[in-house]
Amino acid sequence: MVPREFIEELKARCDLEEIIRTYIPLKRAGANLSGCCPFHSEKTPSFTVFPDKHFYCFGCGAGGDVITFIMRQENLDYMGAVEYLANRAGLTVPRDGERRDEGGRRTRVLEMNREAARYFRAMLFSPAGSEAMAYLTGRGLDGATIKRFGLGYAPASFGGLCDHLHKLGYTDEEMVTAFLCGKSRKTGRPYDYFRNRVMFPIIDVSGNVIAFGGRVMDDSKPKYLNTSDTPAFKKSRNLFALNYAKGNCSEQMILCEGYMDVIALHAAGFLCAVATLGTAITAEQARLMTKYTQRVVISYDSDEAGQRAAQKALRILGEVGLETRVLRMNGAKDPDEYIKNHGADRFRQLLANSVTGFAYRLDNVLAQHDPAIPEEKIKASAELCRIIAGSYSHVEREVYLAEAAKRLELPVDVLRNDVEREAKRLSRERRQQESRDAQAAAAGFGDRVNPDMAKNMRIARAEETVLGLMLLYDEHRAAVASGKIELTEADFFTAFGRRVFSAVLALETSDGGFDVGLLGAQFSPEEIGRIERMRLGRRELSENGISVLRESAALLREDAQRRNAEQGGALSAVERRRAALAAAKEQKTKG
Ligand code: CTP
Ligand code: MN
Repeated sequence: MVPREFIEELKARCDLEEIIRTYIPLKRAGANLSGCCPFHSEKTPSFTVFPDKHFYCFGCGAGGDVITFIMRQENLDYMGAVEYLANRAGLTVPRDGERRDEGGRRTRVLEMNREAARYFRAMLFSPAGSEAMAYLTGRGLDGATIKRFGLGYAPASFGGLCDHLHKLGYTDEEMVTAFLCGKSRKTGRPYDYFRNRVMFPIIDVSGNVIAFGGRVMDDSKPKYLNTSDTPAFKKSRNLFALNYAKGNCSEQMILCEGYMDVIALHAAGFLCAVATLGTAITAEQARLMTKYTQRVVISYDSDEAGQRAAQKALRILGEVGLETRVLRMNGAKDPDEYIKNHGADRFRQLLANSVTGFAYRLDNVLAQHDPAIPEEKIKASAELCRIIAGSYSHVEREVYLAEAAKRLELPVDVLRNDVEREAKRLSRERRQQESRDAQAAAAGFGDRVNPDMAKNMRIARAEETVLGLMLLYDEHRAAVASGKIELTEADFFTAFGRRVFSAVLALETSDGGFDVGLLGAQFSPEEIGRIERMRLGRRELSENGISVLRESAALLREDAQRRNAEQGGALSAVERRRAALAAAKEQKTKG
């Protein structure tokens, strides 16, 4: 555990508002601040920062303190976030052995990755790597590019990297955690995960080697192996070559599918190219892009799969407010091949001719439905009206309407009518869906954090009342800890409620004392969001006195007794604990 005093000092020095403002703009809203949530896509702000230095998003339920915010935003575990903030504030986290293990795991993985990258590079430039070197140069990469991207070669052996890392003092477990080794199911011995592959290190914006992609040099499968998620890496949150692109992309960024596309583009002077890491683009990656650029040119493979992926990318990038373009390419399957066949200048032309997302979809629709045929023209117009109605901005709609009307040779007013009808239908549908979602949420269905909630809403609410009060007020926590209010872990009906209760009580009765920020060490950010909701729920009510606590606790006790009676147990755990508590209390009053 980190001492409470340190967490308090950390939170005092790392102002939540100031830190959040480095990620998103905030506006004053009464005593609070509000903005568009950085953790889910939204257009109307439901992310709120409260004066007590806590945040909560009424849209997605993210919430907590500055530590939780950094955990989510920087994808760190609790100790990682504490260290991150300590660094920023110029503080040193007080350490003991156990803590070093927790917080240092990420650092160890990063150090190991760096060593692995050195090893792969050395192998590439050694005689063992001659075939790999020939492969890379055969694909048109010069020495400077190979060095710049830190490319390497993982030899065909099963133990080369393992042995090397062993010598440097890394354990089997660490290598497996870093995804550099697998563990043999038969012998339990570690073996190199990447074998006989050319290696692409993935480097984050701070220059850490966070992962690898490894490509075979022939047609065998799988073509690429990639590092899975580790304590230092989440593929849905990073982009290949962003470390190189970040200083060259304020105007626009080129988004490709493949590592080789990006490398070919950089080698040809397009320094703003990045790629996802073997997956479709995620909302997190899109939000990451907004930190560096305004506009993204999607430059995916020209095959059908690539074009389908481009449609999806358009939507995801649009949702975070990025301006999007699509680059269209004929006579080559991907940017790498295009540049090799036609040269950088021709690619520059493609870039200049890239079209807006709407123009791209317009062309696609018209390619599928020939407007010279009346029935097809009707289908095309219906599809385009749906697309245009999906846009929130009236200006945008007008611009698109004009374009569509011209191409379809239809009067704008006629199309506008259809678009408006469609927009109304869409917004009705959205409202209905929202109210369905709200009802389901109110009934506790689909609740991942507290799945027991739906089984007995009345009791689950009483739990939240008790916990909310204990989280907020010292005197209420003390009342429960001292036994003045009789309540034990076993009185709780939901497993989540029970966990929160035990954790709060354990902190309260520990030497260090309670601070809500310390809970982050035991609960996931999602769970912390829920804990935040409990605090918030109570704080907004004016009646938060001991009588509320007493009544809710009584309700929980009764229900626990009823459950027990139903189970027909003799002297239950609840009763035993209660008897013990009562005895202790008696002892106290006597003494
Ligand atoms: N990819 C992957 N696993 C595979 C195939 C592809 O992770 N089995 C990912 C890689 O990140 C790859 C990207 O998807 O870079 C695009 O795939 P593809 O177009 O097939 O690869 P290229 O990078 O273009 O590779 P190459 O030109 O060498 O065939
Ligand atoms: Mn390719």
